[in-house]
This record gives sequence, structure tokens and C-alpha cells, in this order.
Amino acid sequence: RRHVLDLDDWSADELRSLLTIATQMKDILERPVKQVPTLRGKIVVNMFWEDSTRTRSSFELAAKALSANVLSLGAKDTSVKKGESLVDTVRTVQALGADYIVMRHGQSGAPYLVAQHFRGSVINGGDGRHAHPSQALLDLFTMHERLGELADKKVVIVGDILHSRVARSNLWALTTMGAKVVVCGPPTLIGPAKYWQSTWPKVEISHSLDHAAEGADVLMALRLQHERMEGGLLPSLREYSRRFGLNATRVASANSNVIVMHPGPMNEGVEIMPDVATGPHSVIETQITNGVAMRMALFYYLATGSEQV
Ligand code: CP
Repeated sequence: RRHVLDLDDWSADELRSLLTIATQMKDILERPVKQVPTLRGKIVVNMFWEDSTRTRSSFELAAKALSANVLSLGAKDTSVKKGESLVDTVRTVQALGADYIVMRHGQSGAPYLVAQHFRGSVINGGDGRHAHPSQALLDLFTMHERLGELADKKVVIVGDILHSRVARSNLWALTTMGAKVVVCGPPTLIGPAKYWQSTWPKVEISHSLDHAAEGADVLMALRLQHERMEGGLLPSLREYSRRFGLNATRVASANSNVIVMHPGPMNEGVEIMPDVATGPHSVIETQITNGVAMRMALFYYLATGSEQV
């Protein structure tokens, strides 16, 4: 495998291999010296053309923990500002000796274009509203750590599904692992029923979080992506929060060992209430910690093709 662009072409066995590697990487990160030599002498370039806190910093820490040399570029501080194209930027990075590019871009499909012009490996760090595979993998790792095998577990993803690359990559990973997935939100943030019937026939659609949360093993809230909305939010923010905000009553109606997830950044008080975000069921900070281990696992798998560290 050369690139990680989305999870639509990953088998259950490959996903399990990544979970195995990530577990070993997490052990390494708990040692006094959090470093192994897998990528010694290799160059990783983080190209983040859209803002990021978690993804950018955890890819950088992951690459450094594997002993790579890391270069971080943002569109605002490169010659992109002077009009240099994405393809020319990739050629430049290649001429500098890059072995891996991690790309975040506001346009869906941008990492696929990069992959066509780069001889090394490209990892998609989030492209437009399309895909965010490393987020879905760290989510899968966190769910697997807490709940074990995911077959037949009820996973509810609630919020702005329409604009969410996190939701889409999670749908690939979760359906491949046999989870029962429910996507929940107002019709305006779910999208056309025809799309769901043709693309995700096994995924259940719900417009009632009160109903969907009952018996859930995972409750995952997503941020409202105002920056990708044209014409504003329907219903209003207040109405949205009342009907689709993750609150303590809804968490109490789920399974007793339910885990509460959010990829971040959060709008507390809108899609998730503060007491739920920091409450006993929340694994939101674990998701962030696990992001480093899973991103190490991705580099490791691309570099070696092995699941033994
Ligand atoms: N979850 C996520 O992608 O967060 P950042 O935008 O901070 O990277």
C-alpha cells in the first residue's frame, strides 16, 4: 500500500493490522524514551492548507517518534501566497527529498491530485467535506480499546453529517468492521435519502436523537461546520442544540458503558454539553492521545507493510 487517501479500499484484516500496530505504538509512547528508528533518514512534509490543531500536531509528533525529519508548511507562509500551484509545490517538496506528504486541503480530492505527482506516499489529513481517514482510524482504535470487537455494536453519529469528512471516513471503517451505524441530524444536515439508499444501504438514518441514543454503544457528536454552509443553518442554532445536542439525559438512555466521542474542535453548549464532554463516559481526550499512536501506525504500515513492531 502506498497512499492513505480514504478508507473505502481498506479490508477488515488491514484495519485490524493497524489496530495491532497502534497498540504497540501506544506502548512505545508510554516509555521514558518515546522514539523508535523506523523512519530514520526519511523526510515527512506536513502540508496543511487548512487550519488544524490535533491532526497537524499529532502527525508531527508521530513522525518524530519514528525518528523522521519533519517539515511543516502552511499555505499562508509559502509561495502558494504568490500564486504557486499545488502541483508545483509538490514538485518542490519532492525535489527537497520528501518521502511522505501529509496533506490537509479545503478542496475535496486535493490529496488525490498530490498523489498523482509525488513519488512517495501521501496521507490525507482531511480534504474538504470528503475524507479524514486518520481521524476515522483513531476513532476506530479508541472504540476497539474500550468496547472490543465492533461487530453489531450500535454507533450513533450525530450532527452535521452533510459536511463531515470525519463521518464519511468513519462510515467506511465502521461498516467494514460490521458495526450498526446510525447517522442522526436534521434532514438539512443529512442530505438526500436517495444518496443514503444507494451508497450506504446498511446505515440507518434518524432525525430524533432521543430515539437514536437508546441502547447506543457509541455516541459521536460532530461540529456544525458553519464555514461549509451556504445560506445558514436550518433549524436555528437554538433549535438544533435542543433537538440534537448531546446531553446527560440522552447519554443516560444509551448502554451503561457507552462512550462519548467528538473529533474536535468542539462547540460546547451546541452539539455537546460541557458536562457530557468532560463526564465519565467521555473518551474525547483519549481520542487525541490515540491519534499519535494511530498516525505512527500508519507511517509504520506504509514503511514496512508489517504489523510486528
Ligand atoms: N479532528 C480534527 O481534524 O481536528 P483538527 O482540525 O484540530 O486537526
